[in-house]
Amino acid sequence: MTTPTPLTQDELKTLVGQAALQYITPGDIIGVGTGSTVNKFIDALASIKDQIRAAVSSSVASTERLQAIGIPVLDANEVESLAVYVDGADEIDGHGHMIKGGGAALTREKIVASLAQRFICIADESKRVEVLGQFPLPVEVIPMAAKQIARRFAALGGQAVLRCKSGQPLVTDNGQHILDVTGLAIADPLTFESEVNQWPGVVTVGVFAHQKASVCLLGTTQGVQTLVY
Ligand code: A5P
Repeated sequence: MTTPTPLTQDELKTLVGQAALQYITPGDIIGVGTGSTVNKFIDALASIKDQIRAAVSSSVASTERLQAIGIPVLDANEVESLAVYVDGADEIDGHGHMIKGGGAALTREKIVASLAQRFICIADESKRVEVLGQFPLPVEVIPMAAKQIARRFAALGGQAVLRCKSGQPLVTDNGQHILDVTGLAIADPLTFESEVNQWPGVVTVGVFAHQKASVCLLGTTQGVQTLVY
């Protein structure tokens, strides 16, 4: 008897992207996040696109992908609320708190998530952690505040590095910069997020504790696990 080949990370992302369709009610306006896992969700949406009234998207990249399959994209100011927001995560702990922003879209992700009644996180099992902080924490900052914010992270034991692309500081969809902070163990994500949010020049910290996941669809070698928080 041959042992089945374990699913690849890419196949796990496809599985959870498809599994997220069950949270969509026909006629909904949905919130759509950013990243390689969400791209699988958008691919899956193509099969039910006629049931989707519109989407609000968290990045230029996702907007283009949604429009390419014929789903209209609205500005966040055009909606009062969304039934669901579907997005990936860089890390997720046992309470549904997440680190996000690996794709630099954290500010818009937090805004769209805040409009939604439920956050459906789609992730492969490599993202599940006990304590947030192994993944470098993305923080979107106003450029003139970057060094002072880096010093504040150093005082907490973290090392902040300016994210670059092609040798230049990466510029977000909002015209700002990103610091990636290593060396943190974020045991109390709610307090941490509230505190860092107060620092002058911080646009968004990539801890999603106030906008945590309601449900995580976790792609594992045993199939999709549904974790409810
Ligand atoms: C984008 O800014 C991020 O928050 C993504 O949601 C996160 O990086 C997960 O991306 P992948 O699905 O590509 O791992």
